[in-house]
Amino acid sequence: MNFLNVSKVHHTYFSKEAATEALQDINLSINKGEFVSFIGPSGCGKTTLLSIIAGLFQPTLGTVKIEGQDVFENDDLSIGYMLQQDYLFPWKTIEENITLGLKLLKKENHSIASKLLKDVGLPPVEKKYPRELSGGMRQRVALARTLAVNPKILLLDEPFSALDYQSKLKLEDLVSEMLKEYNKTAILVTHDLGEAIAMSDRIFLFSPRPGRLYKTFEVPEEIRNLTPFEARGHSSYSSLFQLIWKELESLEQ
Ligand SMILES: Nc1ncnc2c1ncn2[C@@H]1O[C@H](COP(=O)(O)OP(=O)(O)O)[C@@H](O)[C@H]1O
Ligand SMILES: [Mg+2]
Repeated sequence: MNFLNVSKVHHTYFSKEAATEALQDINLSINKGEFVSFIGPSGCGKTTLLSIIAGLFQPTLGTVKIEGQDVFENDDLSIGYMLQQDYLFPWKTIEENITLGLKLLKKENHSIASKLLKDVGLPPVEKKYPRELSGGMRQRVALARTLAVNPKILLLDEPFSALDYQSKLKLEDLVSEMLKEYNKTAILVTHDLGEAIAMSDRIFLFSPRPGRLYKTFEVPEEIRNLTPFEARGHSSYSSLFQLIWKELESLEQ
């Protein structure tokens, strides 16, 4: 059985003035432990689909199931969401931010937070406030918070796009390494084709609005086994980049 199943999903946003058709007949499935990316022109419905998978709202038509359970009907499914903005609470300490989703004793919170900080490569900044950290450090905290609730699946919506290039490359490696270590299933939305290739097992390319699944690409084995940073230097990376780039260009015409 597939881990995640998206079946016949359509979505239209309704407002007083207009109806915006965002997604049309999306069918896809993802295996446990797989890392996939959604790419496609801006406005093609990537964030909409991710929100539907997260169970944030119900699609106009169709279903999303994780391990056979409907994500919208089941409140117990734990889903980790990481966004472009870190959404850390400025008035809470790093420790409080990381353990936000946990209902534990103070003492346990402390040991979980300090272990996760170490795991994401940060020094002991538990007692600091978000404003005292750089953008890259805050995204590491956001990753720690996402992992703290031990989610079944991680949904990453352009989590690196606000970072400088060097921090972005470092964070890609970190996220990739941690998800492998914890054997997590993940979906990354990105407008950076290189990032999608370097990080994913498979890439789903969506057509312009209303978004439809246009093509799926398998990332070759020899890149999948490398870190994202190493993958960017592999010859198979460049050829896949060229191939998908042409498809993207043809879609934008
Ligand atoms: N809450 C909303 N109400 C109305 N239209 C929306 C809403 N959210 C997104 N849209 C529209 O739906 C389409 C898909 O948006 P989105 O999922 O954010 O695309 P992407 O993430 O691929 O850029 C866009 O045309 C966008 O303007
Ligand atoms: Mg988006």
